[in-house]
Amino acid sequence: MPISFAYLCDRDLASKEYERLLNEGLLEQGLKPMPHGNQIAIPVKSGELELEFEGIERHNPHENLRRIVENPPKRWEKLGDIAIFKQGTDTTNWPLEDVAKALGSKRIAIQNEIDSGPTRKSHLEMIFGEDGWVVHRENFVDYEFDATEVMFSSGNVTERRRMGEITTKDEIIVDAFSGIGYYTLQFLVRGKAEHVHACEINPHSIHGLRKGLQRNGVSERCTIHEGDNKVTMKQLHGVADRVILGLIPSSMNAWGNAIRCLKSEGGFIHIHMNVHEDEIDEWAVKTTEWFETASGKNAEAHHLEVVKQYCPRIMHVVLDLRLY
Ligand SMILES: C[S@@+](CC[C@H](N)C(=O)[O-])C[C@H]1O[C@@H](n2cnc3c(N)ncnc32)[C@H](O)[C@@H]1O
Repeated sequence: MPISFAYLCDRDLASKEYERLLNEGLLEQGLKPMPHGNQIAIPVKSGELELEFEGIERHNPHENLRRIVENPPKRWEKLGDIAIFKQGTDTTNWPLEDVAKALGSKRIAIQNEIDSGPTRKSHLEMIFGEDGWVVHRENFVDYEFDATEVMFSSGNVTERRRMGEITTKDEIIVDAFSGIGYYTLQFLVRGKAEHVHACEINPHSIHGLRKGLQRNGVSERCTIHEGDNKVTMKQLHGVADRVILGLIPSSMNAWGNAIRCLKSEGGFIHIHMNVHEDEIDEWAVKTTEWFETASGKNAEAHHLEVVKQYCPRIMHVVLDLRLY
């Protein structure tokens, strides 16, 4: 493996430091950053410490695929080492092992439609490779889950990054729909939250969340509340500086409990919702008014984030609301 000078930084600073080193022309671009003890080692052009780094493969997967498959699909998704093609992709004559190699992955799957029900069962079908358990790294956080059971929305990457960039040191957070820890892990690993209460109803997601907490070394700072958050959030009244309501199309059923989970002095609530593109501003105003009335506190719409287009004309948005 190639040797390079290494710059060490804390995990929560790694993505910012990587970008800074890149902008300043100090990054050794052909090599992969890696964990080094409790820190992240980033390959750089000069310094004092030298380490062995893995090289970044410079292959063109589209070209590789074209060489072995007729009319190959132009798009696929990667979760860890699984390459995922959309429903309807004709893979009948594909040499699956070669296709996996061509895409720099080990397994292949087809993504059938995700359940629209609250637990969002994944319906991923493995067509090459053993089981669906995967470790997927994003923004220096490792997510672990069974992709055949649990969804992972790649479209929400910017929202996961945004939550990880909030400095939540000293904060107690209630994540009302935690799943495998989409936001919980960001808050714990990057934001350095003091404690996260993660509420989740789906046993497959809870299994993944437990593994993810362990893998990232943050289990002691998270309590998992298993079951329906209509029940579990009631045990968390008055504890939180911040509440995350990460459920679409709507998290309205948890709005009342979210207010009650905040400390008496108030805090932030991040409200996810699917809203028609022409009604976003109106929705933000009405929602702010609703929370003001229901909480008896002042409510300020701190920020409105458009995460992604959910379907034609319907946008997944997040309102960051401050109650004080
Ligand atoms: C769609 S996921 C969250 C996705 C995440 N926001 C993202 O960015 O990818 C929503 C999670 O809420 C959980 N959930 C839904 N209703 C619930 C309830 N009443 N109590 C607890 N968890 C619930 C589901 O099992 C699922 O894991």
